[in-house]
Amino acid sequence: MPVERTPVWLLRQAGRYLPEYRALRERHSMLELIRTPELAAEVTLMPVSAFGMDAAIVFSDILPPLVGMGLELDFVKGDGPRIGRAIESTRDVDRLGTPPAEETMAGTLEAIRLVRAELEPAGIPVIGFAGAPFTLASYAIEGGTSKDFTRTKAFMISEPAAWKRLLTKLATVQADYLLAQAQAGADALQVFDSWAGRALGREDYLRYVAPVNRELYAAVSRAAVPVINFSLGVGAYLEDAAACGGDVVGLDWQLPLDEAWRRVGHERPVQGNLDPASLLAPWRELRVRIDDVLDRAGGRPGHVFNVGHGLVPQTPVDNVRRLVEHVHERAAA
Ligand code: CP3
Repeated sequence: MPVERTPVWLLRQAGRYLPEYRALRERHSMLELIRTPELAAEVTLMPVSAFGMDAAIVFSDILPPLVGMGLELDFVKGDGPRIGRAIESTRDVDRLGTPPAEETMAGTLEAIRLVRAELEPAGIPVIGFAGAPFTLASYAIEGGTSKDFTRTKAFMISEPAAWKRLLTKLATVQADYLLAQAQAGADALQVFDSWAGRALGREDYLRYVAPVNRELYAAVSRAAVPVINFSLGVGAYLEDAAACGGDVVGLDWQLPLDEAWRRVGHERPVQGNLDPASLLAPWRELRVRIDDVLDRAGGRPGHVFNVGHGLVPQTPVDNVRRLVEHVHERAAA
C-alpha cells in the first residue's frame, strides 16, 4: 500500500540502549521478559511511545523456539546466549521435536495480541519474527554464538542427510511459529538469517541452505501478511538469498542501498540499511549518513528506513530520537 512518508523502525529498537529497558532487566531475566506477555508487550511498546517508530517488533528472541524442540536456552550476562544439550551427532537431530507454536510459544503469541490491541487504533503495525534454519542450526550445534562456525560447517559437510533433516525440522517449526504469529495479529513477519552469509560461500549456500529457505518462505506465504527476508552478509550472493522468497528484502549495511536495491530488483520493496555504528557518531555526521541512505533510495516507493543490523547497547537515546524525526521530516519535504 502506498504511504506518504518513509516509514522507519530499527532492528533491536527495544534493547539495552533504552534506560527503561535496563531498569526492567534489573528486576527480570531476559527469559522472564520474553515469557511474560504483559512485560514483553511493555518492552515492545517502549520505543514506539518514546520515539514514534512506525512499527513495533514483538519483544522476544530467535532462540526460544529451540526450547520447545528439546534444547536448553539461557542468556548469560556478557556472554550472550547459551544452548544446552547442543547437537553433536545425527542421533541428536532425531531426538528433536516439532511441537506446535501454540504450545511452546504461547507467551509471545499473547504478547502480540496485547500489542496489537494497543496499536491498532493508531494504525501502527506489529512485526512478528523468527530465525532462519541455518542461523538456528548454528546455535543448536555450536551451543552459542560462534566466530567461524567450524562445528556447524563440519556437521553440514560430513553429515548431509542429517543436516537436511535438521534444517527441515527447524523450517517446519519456524513456519508454524510465523503463521501462528500472523494468526495472533502480527501485520508483517521478518525472517532473520544472521549467519548463513557470514559462514558460507555461494555454492554451499545454494546447496545446503537455499532449498530449505525456499520451503520456509513458500510455507509462510500462506500467512497473507508481508514477509521480510533479512539475510545478513550475503553481498556475494544477494540475488540468490533474495530469490529464496519474502515480499520485502531487508538489506544489511555492507552494500550501498542503491546498488543492493538494483540487484534485488526495483519491483521488490527493501528495508534498510544504515550502519548501526553511525548512531555512535555526533549528530552532524549521523545526519549525513541518514541522508545518504535516503538519497540512495531516491524517493522511490517501497523503502522502509532501518538500520542494517541491530542497534548496539552504547547507542545514545538522543540519536535514535533525532534519527526518527529526521527521516519523518525529510520524507515529508
Ligand atoms: O527490538 C528487537 O529487534 C526485537 C527483539 C530481538 C532480540 N533479538 C532481543 C534481544 C530480536 C528481533 C532478536 C533477534 C536475534 N537474536 C538475532 C537475529 C538478529 C541479529 O541480531 O542478527 C540473533 C542472532 C539473536 C541471538 C542473540 N540474542 C544474541 C547473539 C544475543 C546476545 C548479543 C546481544 O546483543 O546481547 C541475544 C540477546 C538479546 N536479544 C538481547 C535483546 C534485547 C539482549 C539481552 C539482554 O537484555 O541482556
